[in-house]
Amino acid sequence: MRVVINTPGRIVLVVLGVILSLHFIASFTHDAYGRATSISQLTNKFHSTPNHNDLDSSAPTEHGKPAKIYLPNNQIYSERRANATFVILCRNDQLWDTMRSVREIEDKFNHIYHYPYVFLNEVPFTDEFKYRLNNIISSKAEFGLIPHDHWFQPDWIDEEKASASRAQMQSENIIYGGSLSYRNMCRFNSGFFFRHPLMQKYKWYWRIEPDVHFHCDILFDPFLYMEDHNKIYAFTISMYEYERTIQTLWGHVKDFMKQNPQYVHPNNAMGFISDDGSGDRYNLCHFWSNFEIANMEFWRGEAYMSFFEYLDSQGGFYYERWGDAPVHSIAAALFASKDQIHFFDEIGYEHAPYTHCPKEGDHFTRGRCSCNPGNNFDFDGISCLNKFQAFMSRS
Ligand SMILES: *[C@@H]1O[C@H](CO)[C@@H](O)[C@H](O)[C@H]1NC(C)=O
Repeated sequence: MRVVINTPGRIVLVVLGVILSLHFIASFTHDAYGRATSISQLTNKFHSTPNHNDLDSSAPTEHGKPAKIYLPNNQIYSERRANATFVILCRNDQLWDTMRSVREIEDKFNHIYHYPYVFLNEVPFTDEFKYRLNNIISSKAEFGLIPHDHWFQPDWIDEEKASASRAQMQSENIIYGGSLSYRNMCRFNSGFFFRHPLMQKYKWYWRIEPDVHFHCDILFDPFLYMEDHNKIYAFTISMYEYERTIQTLWGHVKDFMKQNPQYVHPNNAMGFISDDGSGDRYNLCHFWSNFEIANMEFWRGEAYMSFFEYLDSQGGFYYERWGDAPVHSIAAALFASKDQIHFFDEIGYEHAPYTHCPKEGDHFTRGRCSCNPGNNFDFDGISCLNKFQAFMSRS
């Protein structure tokens, strides 16, 4: 078939061609012009909420349903879900690092399970941040602002003493030693994230950070595993804390235990965090809390809340640099039964510079892991995993 274009038609085509070329040149030569008219911006205007944001997170979508899913005990894929969410504390300027983490957990796990996300920030998230994340998330995402008092240094902290300590630690090159916002974050993660209004409606959380990596397919539901096995706290990496950041922490823990013996679980994991098991000295072992899957009822409960409030009143989040990792770990070791703490070997996880790469049984092959098992932090000199496993197997 021949297409005949008459003269007026040709003129229209030429004019259209000129306009398109000018647009093309302008998009390349002028950044702002390119941004203002790019396809994503245009579609953004037409969809005030991304159209594939599946709001019913409990119902797996057709496309998300796998042909066959292998669960640890040969169950088949189930539509049962836990009362659970991902939680990601991040800043607007961490958009692309956050995108990578979320993209990976979606690809390796959540495109099948569709658990929701809660993003938290001490300033409001930008529209671009929300739009970009919603674009890659297969479930519901909520974006929350942290209440002022949950984040910033309380008035009763002696700022002169706190800033002198920061300056001193910075001069000793202690990691984040001079940082106030890092301290705010550690205190927030220790005592507040699970009380945020957006978190209240969930029981379980999986903590994710910007720029972490998931190296293997996760072919089971870790939340349901926790629920079905009566677990409270799960980790993938465990290591020694810098003593300089928690110089008085253990003394306060001992005082708290003395005043509140009723909170210490008879079947606790003191033998993991204290080498002679007596609790006289802390061996600095803790679970690396940038990855955590845990039950928030434990943090919200009486034992942990009074523990946190006691520690907070000592001011050590600011006068020293107490991390949420030792605070959570010590609490889990003392106030839970040791059987309620779980190591997820199956979950290949990296937070630079350390990687947990699965090794037990066929976890590596089944998970189609892409991490280097030779690079596994599990056997590193500063890893506490050996200690954890030895403790668990002897007691
Ligand atoms: C989920 O857990 C929260 C916190 O325990 C609770 O308030 C809420 O009712 C639970 N939701 C469902 C659907 O069970």
